[in-house]
Amino acid sequence: MDTKEAIKSRRSVKHFDPNHELTESEIRELLSLATLSPTAFNIQNWRFVLVKDPELRKEIRKVSWDQAQVTDCSLLVIICADLKSWNKAPERYWKKAPVAVQEFILPAIKSYYQNNDQVQRDEAMRSCGIAAQTLMLAAKAMAYDSCPMDGFDFAAVAKLINLPSDHVIALFVAIGKGLSPAAPRAGQLALNELIIENTFL
Ligand SMILES: Cc1cc2nc3c(=O)[nH]c(=O)nc-3n(C[C@H](O)[C@H](O)[C@H](O)COP(=O)(O)O)c2cc1C
Repeated sequence: MDTKEAIKSRRSVKHFDPNHELTESEIRELLSLATLSPTAFNIQNWRFVLVKDPELRKEIRKVSWDQAQVTDCSLLVIICADLKSWNKAPERYWKKAPVAVQEFILPAIKSYYQNNDQVQRDEAMRSCGIAAQTLMLAAKAMAYDSCPMDGFDFAAVAKLINLPSDHVIALFVAIGKGLSPAAPRAGQLALNELIIENTFL
C-alpha cells in the first residue's frame, strides 16, 4: 500500500475479530518494521511487550476501562521504554560507525542524558510515539487495523507485566482484523489553526 493511502486509511478501530490470529512471521514483520523507527542518538529505547497470554489479557482489560480491544485484538503490544538504555552498553548502537564517529557520539550520549530524568522520560515518550505510528502504518500496509490506547491504569498494568523499575509504559497498540469501520472522523481542525509560521504571535 502507498504510504499516503496507509496514513489516510489508518483509523482507531474499536471492534476486532477475536477469532483472527496473526502468524509468527507477520508479528516478526510488524515488529521488524517498527524497530526501523528513528530514536535520538539511535538508542532504540523502546521495548515491545507482546501480550499473548489470554488470561493476562483479561486481567489487563479489567484495568483498561473494560475496553474490548485489549482481549479481542490479534496482537496487543505494550510499548514501553527503557529509561536507562542510553547507559546500557551504548557502543552497541554505533558499532558499525567509523571509530571517529563513535568517539564523538558516545560521550555526547552520556552528557545529554546523565542526571537528567526529564530528558530521559521525554525521549522515551518521543521514541515510543514514533514507533507506535510506524507500527500502525505497517499494520495498515499489511491489511490490518489498529488502535492506539492509553485508557488504562498505568501502575496496574506495570504490575501485571512485571515492568522493571527503570522502564516506563508509553501506550498500547492493539492490532487485528477490524469487524466494523471507525466512525467518520470526528472533527479535524483546520490547518491554519495548527500551523504557525516562524513564531507564535
Ligand atoms: C495516545 C492515544 C491514546 C488513545 N487511547 C485510546 C483508548 O484508550 N481507547 C480508544 O478507543 N481510543 C484511543 N485512542 C484513539 C483516539 O481516540 C483516536 O486516535 C482519535 O479519536 C482520532 O481518531 P483516528 O485515530 O481514527 O483518526 C487513543 C489515541 C492516542 C493517540
